[in-house]
Amino acid sequence: TLLDLHLWLLDGLNLHSLLLKDLLSRIAYLSFIQLNELPCGCYFSTSSQRSSDFYTDPTEAVKDIPDGATILVGGFGLCGIPENLINSLLKTGVKGLTAVSNNAGVDNFGLGLLLQTKQIKRMISSYVGENVEFERQYLSGELEVELTPQGTLAERIRAGGAGIPAFFTATGYGTLIQEGGSPIKYNKDGSIAIASEKRQVQEFNGRQYIMEKAITGDFALIKAWKADRAGNIVFRKTARNFNQPMCKAAKTTIVEVEEVVDVGTFAAEDIHIPSIYVQRVFQGDSYEKRIEKRTVKKVQEQQPKPKKDSDIVRERIIRRAALEFEDGMYANLGIGIPMLASNFIKPDITVHLQSENGILGLIPILWSELCVGKETVTVLPGAAYFSSDESFAMIRGGHINLTMLGAMQVSKYGDLANWMIPGKMVKGMGGAMDLVASAGTKVVVTMEHSAKGGKHKILDKCSLPLTGKQCVDRIITEKAVFDVDKTKGLTLIEVWEGLTPDDIKACTGTHFEVSPKLRPMQQI
Ligand SMILES: *[C@@H]1O[C@H](CO)[C@@H](O)[C@H](O)[C@H]1NC(C)=O
Repeated sequence: TLLDLHLWLLDGLNLHSLLLKDLLSRIAYLSFIQLNELPCGCYFSTSSQRSSDFYTDPTEAVKDIPDGATILVGGFGLCGIPENLINSLLKTGVKGLTAVSNNAGVDNFGLGLLLQTKQIKRMISSYVGENVEFERQYLSGELEVELTPQGTLAERIRAGGAGIPAFFTATGYGTLIQEGGSPIKYNKDGSIAIASEKRQVQEFNGRQYIMEKAITGDFALIKAWKADRAGNIVFRKTARNFNQPMCKAAKTTIVEVEEVVDVGTFAAEDIHIPSIYVQRVFQGDSYEKRIEKRTVKKVQEQQPKPKKDSDIVRERIIRRAALEFEDGMYANLGIGIPMLASNFIKPDITVHLQSENGILGLIPILWSELCVGKETVTVLPGAAYFSSDESFAMIRGGHINLTMLGAMQVSKYGDLANWMIPGKMVKGMGGAMDLVASAGTKVVVTMEHSAKGGKHKILDKCSLPLTGKQCVDRIITEKAVFDVDKTKGLTLIEVWEGLTPDDIKACTGTHFEVSPKLRPMQQI
């Protein structure tokens, strides 16, 4: 604290022109005055020396955001979004915004509200997901959307705040992200009006990486838990997500908090964001904190409902997928079947589940037909919360042993497509491109063997835009399990009871070898 104090008091003085002796005497003198004049434990209570300004009206805090500004908006889904500041932008009526935010809320909450009023010109996001209006505006050419892999988005923002203009990542290599030409804006007739730029490729240690540029904003709109009166910030649980890196990457950072507390209420070493990054603080008095999916433990039904065919297929895949878990593993599981597989982890092994919004150590969800992402979860003792840039450092850095995810198509060399159907369906890649690009992470695809109408999903070459190139290690379907060799192709290693390799050939769109050790499909 003393060091901070010195630096703050010297703000504006030219250090080089001061003799050390003079410098020390000034510090001592000024410090003495400060310490005597101010209430104990609070060095900076006069507004002139505070780095952050405190607001009581959120509209006052955002009223100078001009038309055409780039705003960084924290949050993941609806968790940790600056709801009061977003609502204030509805009042100021600012237009033509470029909004950098992982998602765009839902149709009637969060950034979704600013989409409805057409105040946003461009979104830079990783996930469109369940926001119907977002998808509609994009596909109809009313909204520009720069879809960016989630980890790349977090790191571009982190780099922006840290003064790094660009960096190299393996994420997106061999996909539309690298090749360019991905639609940012559609024309009314469905042709592409604005396409994404091609990325520079460079090889390091025998692997290909693409160059991604930093993102900075004019303003950051942040939701935190508490600020102290000096403007230091702490976040609550997973609400840290994109808020933490965004605080540092804007010219003006505006933080809304639930509580403003005295300096010293939280220890200096527990501060997530030091006040230097915080220009404005607003304390909200009401928070809706809407939850997208509330999942609670289900009471076991007396008479379970009879299973549909699709349930039987899913359960077969789930019970095979659960055998991929090994003791001590760190795993990231996609929504749907992979997450459900975690319910079948054998009780005698420990698997640490990572969730890319910033949790390590969540517990397997219970069997539920309504299993989709952005739902509430429970964490185990020993769990940790962290920000999105940290989460993807973990992923990109190869610290996660296993990732399981669904697919629309997989090629014989392990190319994966699961994030969009051009012109028709755009969910966004979320964190999938980062997860599959990580060297050292085993990538297991769980999916139904064929699409509706019997169309092949396992192919010579994917026809849909790729999520990753030569990245899949194993494919598990309700009929078979394949190992993938990234240069030699597929080997059938397990087949469902009663089926033969010829049956599998008939429903697979590419050639495969049959393992000499072919065995019946295993189930947990
Ligand atoms: C998980 O990966 C780490 C390296 O990041 C490795 O040391 C460890 O043995 C792996 N654990 C399992 C169970 O695969």
